[in-house]
Amino acid sequence: MTFYVTTPIYYANSLPHLGHLYTMVVADTIARSKRQQGIETFFLTGTDEHGINIERAAQRSNRTPKEQADYVVSYYTKMTAAFGLDTAHGGYDIFMRTTNPFHYEGVSELWRRVAKAKTPKGNDALYKGHYEGWFCAACASYKTEDEYAAASAPGEPPTCLVHETKLDRVSEESYFFRLSDYDEALLALYERPDFVRPEARRNEVKSFVAGGLQDLSVSRLKTSVSWGIPVPDDPDHTMYVWFDALTNYITAIGFGNEQQERKIGFEKFWPALHLVGKDILRQHAVYWPAFLMAGGIQQPSGVYAHGMWVDPGGRKMSKTLGNTVELDVLNQYFSIDSIRYFCLREMVFGQDGRFGYENLIDRTNSDLASGLGNLSSRTLTMIHRYCEGRIPEGTVSDESRLAAKRAGVEDEMAISHFVSHARDEFLRDFEDFAFSRALEDAWGIVARADKMISDAKPWDLAKDAKQRETLNAVLYRAAESLRWLCVLLYAVMPNAAREIYKQLGMTGDVNRISPGELTWGGLSAGQAVGEVKPLFPRIDKAKTMEEIKEQTSDVRDQKSEKPEIADRQQAADAASPHSGTHLTEADAVPGVAHIDITDFAKIDLRVGEVKTAERIPKADKLLLITVDIGEEKPRQILAGIAQYYEPEKLVGRKIVVVANLKPRKLRGYESQGMLLAASVGDEGKPVIATFAEDVPNGARLK
Ligand code: MSP
Repeated sequence: MTFYVTTPIYYANSLPHLGHLYTMVVADTIARSKRQQGIETFFLTGTDEHGINIERAAQRSNRTPKEQADYVVSYYTKMTAAFGLDTAHGGYDIFMRTTNPFHYEGVSELWRRVAKAKTPKGNDALYKGHYEGWFCAACASYKTEDEYAAASAPGEPPTCLVHETKLDRVSEESYFFRLSDYDEALLALYERPDFVRPEARRNEVKSFVAGGLQDLSVSRLKTSVSWGIPVPDDPDHTMYVWFDALTNYITAIGFGNEQQERKIGFEKFWPALHLVGKDILRQHAVYWPAFLMAGGIQQPSGVYAHGMWVDPGGRKMSKTLGNTVELDVLNQYFSIDSIRYFCLREMVFGQDGRFGYENLIDRTNSDLASGLGNLSSRTLTMIHRYCEGRIPEGTVSDESRLAAKRAGVEDEMAISHFVSHARDEFLRDFEDFAFSRALEDAWGIVARADKMISDAKPWDLAKDAKQRETLNAVLYRAAESLRWLCVLLYAVMPNAAREIYKQLGMTGDVNRISPGELTWGGLSAGQAVGEVKPLFPRIDKAKTMEEIKEQTSDVRDQKSEKPEIADRQQAADAASPHSGTHLTEADAVPGVAHIDITDFAKIDLRVGEVKTAERIPKADKLLLITVDIGEEKPRQILAGIAQYYEPEKLVGRKIVVVANLKPRKLRGYESQGMLLAASVGDEGKPVIATFAEDVPNGARLK
């Protein structure tokens, strides 16, 4: 038996944020749990590297498209290692890139098959036609009906919802996939109740297909999109990026390439379970199955669409809105396990979830530090204190049973039943993708063990020689419950589970023990427990929130905020939550929203000369500079440029200062203005604006 799970492959035009990390965490958790059950598992993630958006992102950062993809992939490599999701940490088995030569081969093979195929209604699956549609030049993409606003006057073109610019009617030669012939076959496929999950999404997809399908344009002329895979035997055409991207799931394991097939095995691992955000369900549940039917390939084992992380105000996360949760910040303040736990506990899988750092801190402190962490440290500390550091005998002899009852300690059966019932519920919920409920089941065990300890008061029992067996039994049961928790929680929190397991004195890796095979009493009496180390240190909420706020506002100050575009992007998102053309950051290029000259005149921009510049302790992004802008005293400004500019090199330099910006405090220093810098590339590298000619300090920019 084998198992194959995939995340979407992420666009290589921008750096990932929590949303991208999330699907990886879920897939990683599922993969670990399957491996723990002894099932040979393959876990794929990767990047989607072709198409106009990557091309444009590359242009903006002065890179070739491949360099752009390499740059984003190098960030993914670092990020997945930091979060323990890479192969070296027992995470993904392949980081798939659509620029891999074996992928080109595999996609071309699928295209050829589709080109020869007949639809279920007996027509050619692929045909050449003319694609005509409303095209937004700024988005560089065709817009579907729900992505534009109808014209206000007859005869006028509609307007792009993102840019509010008029659309052009464009037509070009294109290959079409006869999707319209696949409606019945797809509806039959959706009869499989586990094909699209959850149920609400399945109904959504069903009614979309039942409403009638339009044929799908699956190529663009090379002259309009050149960064992509050429259509076999017709190199003037580039494949539609979704045809290319979706096919990665099969090329990765060897479809259409012998070497990859030998290395991994298409026959061995296909079909896959696809985990996707609900934003790309249509592509996975409609287009992909139809392509597979045409290619004569078995359908995926299922497509599971999860919800989106939104900010505490309910808005979708996007870099344009400046509300994304940056992975660097998460990594700096939170342990991998607490992030994983939070992701799975807080979001009801399938529904949207709100992400706030405050919630993350609260959950870490309550469920992990005070919950699981505290149960583990108090149990082990008492075993050290009262049992010379060895797991005590857990059985209570007949003679001592009455004493135990008197101390409020129940029969062992009661707790062993409770724990194994909780395990069964946990596994059932886990299988059902109800991770949040599964974790509640596991925390039922934490609460039960905690209560047992608080009721029995081992510290009192220890004072009474007649209660020796009762004391031992309580500690044994707590320790045994912890052993079960390690096995159950390994897939969600691999590091903490391993650590507690080790502290219990267990040898061997918890990742080899199948939760279904746990039996009560597996912990051996006499076994020496390890050193008690804190697992989840409490987080100082006020301090951490303050630091995070400063960090995230630093970053945002350096990135130009474009609220008007953001709002329109939101409007577009709201209008078309599952639209065929997926909005990406790269789509949200600056539009042409105009401001009045009086709006501009509100900003007091002055020439300044940097007088001093220094680093600030413990703030690796900030420089403290003083700038002469022709006032009595130089201004003090904090700028988030420390990673890009040596302080010494700034002194004497003429810069542009926003002089009437409200002063604010950062890291205990008042910042009395802002310097202007261009934000370059995806990492937003600042390049300070300066003058080619000599200008006096304080001169106004108009
Ligand atoms: N390249 C395509 C997918 C091709 S798959 C053959 C793409 N890439 S993407 O970079 O935009 O990633 C989209 C996926 O990232 C979502 O489906 C989801 O898995 C994840 N998320 C991105 N933002 C998210 C949230 N705010 N919340 C949860 N997941 C999100 O689409």
